[in-house]
Amino acid sequence: MDPRSEVLLRQADLFTGPLLLAGLPADDLLSQLPGAHGWSWHAGDSAQLNARFSGRCHFGTAPASGIQIHAAVLFLPKSRELTDYLLTTLAAELIGKSLFLVGEKRAGVERAAKQLAAFGQPRKLDSARHCQLWQVRVDHCPARPDLHSLAQHYELELPDGALNVLTLPGVFSHGRLDVGSALLLEHLDDLPGGHILDFGCGAGVLGASLKRRYPESDITLLDVDAFALESSRLTLEANGLKADVIGGDGIDAAPHNLTAILTNPPFHQGVHTHYQATEHLLRQAHSHLTTKGELRLVANSFLKYPPLIEQHLGPCETLAERDGFRIYRARK
Ligand SMILES: C[S@@+](CC[C@H](N)C(=O)[O-])C[C@H]1O[C@@H](n2cnc3c(N)ncnc32)[C@H](O)[C@@H]1O
Repeated sequence: MDPRSEVLLRQADLFTGPLLLAGLPADDLLSQLPGAHGWSWHAGDSAQLNARFSGRCHFGTAPASGIQIHAAVLFLPKSRELTDYLLTTLAAELIGKSLFLVGEKRAGVERAAKQLAAFGQPRKLDSARHCQLWQVRVDHCPARPDLHSLAQHYELELPDGALNVLTLPGVFSHGRLDVGSALLLEHLDDLPGGHILDFGCGAGVLGASLKRRYPESDITLLDVDAFALESSRLTLEANGLKADVIGGDGIDAAPHNLTAILTNPPFHQGVHTHYQATEHLLRQAHSHLTTKGELRLVANSFLKYPPLIEQHLGPCETLAERDGFRIYRARK
């Protein structure tokens, strides 16, 4: 059980009625709280929860419509701007009712609890397992925020024209281009066209550039995060481009018979650093690529990806190196 869920269960009498658990971990909490529904923006957690608790977890950038709730708990996400959007969205449904916030101390729950003051008088209910639980009774009813109005916009000058990029709160490299992605954008030549995947698409900057560069190819953009997927849709739309945008956890969710996989892959998540999704991608890329299909990625130079790529796909070439990043290419 996630320590944040354990802290909630120490106060289980507060959570007996219809309850919304927003950003909940994929653990056993729904079995302990039969009146609760989940709302998750993580495709993997949501799929795991629905496999165990059929229909009790909604995936998306807003809660499911039509669910009556008497209270909600937000599991603190990493981004302050995303926390702001989520708290306001929840509070707008909870006038006169309770909104709870739970999170790890090292993730900044004490600081985030100050954001609750916009709705009423926050109070700390518990502190245990390196986590805190806060509550506010919603006295000030905010308007439900318009997610799209929170998008940040930047424009990239690319050789084939300007590209508009829209990023929503919580999405990787919100409001600016990442240094690694910038390097990869300079090395999009000579990809085998056909069906190309942008793995971990974030705001869609790579996928949208691919569609412009290879208009005859099918482009699929895949991400685990609902806010990233929505950003990618906005970016494609802002540039008049069409591509498939799909939610899924890891390469297993990707189509087969791809002619290329292009990626600035994930290397951390939340407060814990891990590389599983990327290592799994490097191990499994071959089963998603056609013969001579290509994997091209950007990574921090210190990450030891080439041996893994050579073991599972083929000889790994370094196409470029700058600012501590490298572009690797391998063909099946
Ligand atoms: C380093 S960012 C790159 C984003 C974007 N391609 C860019 O260049 O700006 C990695 C992305 O991978 C996504 N991601 C993390 N874990 C994932 C997983 N298991 N499956 C799919 N996408 C994942 C993250 O949400 C994030 O958007």
